[in-house]
Amino acid sequence: MSDQSSKNSILEFFTEKGILLSPNALQIIIKRNLGNQVMNLLSPDIIESGYLSEKDVLNLMKRSSQPHVEEYEVNIQDVTVGSSVEDFRGYFVSRFEKLRKIILTSMSMLGSVDIESARKSPERRVKTVGMISSVGTTKNGHLKLTIEDLKDHMDVIIMKDKIKQGEVYLQDEVIGVVGSLSSGSGRRVIFADEIVRPDTPSRIVDDNGGEPVYVASLSDIHVGSKEFRKDEFRRMIKWIKSSAEDSQQLKYLILSGDVVDGIGVYPNQENDLDIVNPTEQYELLAELISDIPPDVMVFVIPGNHDVVRIPEPQPVFSKKIGSMFPPNVVMLPNPYTLHLEKKRILVYHGMSLNDMIELIPGASFDTVGPAIEALLKRRHLAPVYGGKTPLIPTPVDHHVIEEVPDIFITGHVHSHAVGWYRGIRYVNSSTWQSQTEFQKIMNFSPNPSILTLFDLNSRTTLKRDFKKREVLN
Ligand SMILES: [Fe+2]
Repeated sequence: MSDQSSKNSILEFFTEKGILLSPNALQIIIKRNLGNQVMNLLSPDIIESGYLSEKDVLNLMKRSSQPHVEEYEVNIQDVTVGSSVEDFRGYFVSRFEKLRKIILTSMSMLGSVDIESARKSPERRVKTVGMISSVGTTKNGHLKLTIEDLKDHMDVIIMKDKIKQGEVYLQDEVIGVVGSLSSGSGRRVIFADEIVRPDTPSRIVDDNGGEPVYVASLSDIHVGSKEFRKDEFRRMIKWIKSSAEDSQQLKYLILSGDVVDGIGVYPNQENDLDIVNPTEQYELLAELISDIPPDVMVFVIPGNHDVVRIPEPQPVFSKKIGSMFPPNVVMLPNPYTLHLEKKRILVYHGMSLNDMIELIPGASFDTVGPAIEALLKRRHLAPVYGGKTPLIPTPVDHHVIEEVPDIFITGHVHSHAVGWYRGIRYVNSSTWQSQTEFQKIMNFSPNPSILTLFDLNSRTTLKRDFKKREVLN
């Protein structure tokens, strides 16, 4: 049917029912191919008012794609907390086994053996996998890594002319090594030709042609802080409720931790607080969030300022906190992989970014992208153990990135960065807190009040900056 004839038949349909159609509403019905759904537009309210506006049509579209809360029943595995030598061993074994499995899927690793077999191999050419236990330099300037597996260890030499610029190897990361064994007497070493990281497969992401469905990310709200930018946060919610096309297509909202400022997170924090009682901080957040339309699902993970255990993996909020929020709010642990509309969204507050910013060349608090990419490349959310990221030695390492995400959401750093890494979209999701005294001392200026929107049906990523008043226009 041509546009003109479908326009005529839609107009005819509404005229027959005695309903006046706004020109914009008509345009949306035609543009979005809603011709066969016009019957659904005839709610008692519309019939009574005799008028169908653009907003009514957008609301109908939103209702028809409404998710069911039950779909997001969160399955949280039991995290047992221990600190014995055995607990630590179990944790590292889990990390090693999971990452080795990923590394062995690489074609380059075909024929890989364990370190003991590699060390004793009659062949010069060997391939093996190990966890880095030390990183050093030989007196001739070559890189020397000691790798170990469950039974043995071995040194790996990367000749200085083979060290890629900007490449760093971190203690505790798991790598595959392809190279040649040293000859002669003494303990043998491998001269590496290739280091194989677990990494994520390169993927090409295409638009699937579907209507936009946005998932938006925001982070580090810090409700309760004197620096909480309440007006801009309210303006953002007003935008979500508005008839702007992007906001009407927003179906999911993800809050990636530090939703309140907490108390006792650092010395004398009470001087920086507007609301000292954390329960009241959550109450205010719940009040603000309850203004978000109920058909937008809101997912919340905790961060290091929240009232849950700080060492990761962090559990979901207590029932007491959870019950303050409306039913469209779902509490998740940190980290967590969400499955939405057949897409995987990895959500992590991002404490390990502090470590990675120090270690990864080109990364800084203002330029977080290289640090985020370094996590994906290593398929681990906290590759360095014992840095600034408190980790619990759980029997299963929850920080291994087993499922390759489509979108990777982080926070914690209070800056804003979006990027692509081998077909994965990522973001550091800004903050809703102005510069704190501590950040002033560190000479860091946050980039607050930004909402990032990812279309799950295309490559489109949008940024809405609520520092700018015109964003609502
Ligand atoms: Fe934060």
